[in-house]
Amino acid sequence: METSGFFMKSNQPIGIFDSGIGGLTVAKAVKDALPNENIIYFGDTAHLPYGDKSTAAIQAYSVRISDMLLKMNCKVILIACNSASSAAYDLVTEYVGKKAKVFDVINPTIDFIRENYKGGKIGLIGTKQTVSSEVYKKKIEELSMGIQFSALATSLLVPMIEEGIHNDQISHEIINRYLADPSLSAIESLILGCTHYPIIKDEISTYYRNGSKAVGIIDSAETVAKALKAYLEYNQLINKERRAAPDRFMVSDFTKSFEHITKIFFGKEVHLEQRLIWDEHN
Ligand code: DGL
Repeated sequence: METSGFFMKSNQPIGIFDSGIGGLTVAKAVKDALPNENIIYFGDTAHLPYGDKSTAAIQAYSVRISDMLLKMNCKVILIACNSASSAAYDLVTEYVGKKAKVFDVINPTIDFIRENYKGGKIGLIGTKQTVSSEVYKKKIEELSMGIQFSALATSLLVPMIEEGIHNDQISHEIINRYLADPSLSAIESLILGCTHYPIIKDEISTYYRNGSKAVGIIDSAETVAKALKAYLEYNQLINKERRAAPDRFMVSDFTKSFEHITKIFFGKEVHLEQRLIWDEHN
């Protein structure tokens, strides 16, 4: 595990960002695994969804947000969005340098596959950006483990979840139609390649439970939280202060409905602050 060259202190916050509130599923997994850490969450709701944006636009947003999180003294910047991870991880890592450790949601998932799989077929569902970037495909090929891989862009799922449509007949029909796609036939495991999808994990599991073959679900929110915990422990960067500062949740465009649906993603309602990071620099 990488150790040297970083200049962080254990009591600095963990910065987490996403295109919107989907990344709160990752923030929740981080908070569950590391309850004493102070989280600063930023959802770029002004530019949602990232899944349909160009790579260049997502890179520009991601660097700007990372800059803000660095100025807020974060020891870790966690890109809690598969679309941003696939478009901007390398650029953000280069930009941040040794000032903070950058995590994305893709590399911990690839590490998990390396450690737990021996060949077989793995499927992925995600946004258009994540699927068309082919980042997962390339990284799985680089493992040279003989894993077959196929990915399906499931563009209706993010708006469906954000509309609060889950665990009902409409969501079942949409999910079932996607999962029945021939490209996902005969898979052993399915990667939830979008941080919104833990919300529909049970429905996805039910689909496969009713089928003829057991299919494992790889949830990147849990995988990245475990990887982050291991990193902080190994580098003695776990916050030991008895009273961590209060967590902060910021969005670039505030609406009441965003605040209302935080509960679905974070398990409890959180107070959202509006923070204009884009316009104030232009
Ligand atoms: N949460 C984002 C992801 O993981 C998807 C939402 C969006 O398209 O902005 O890709």
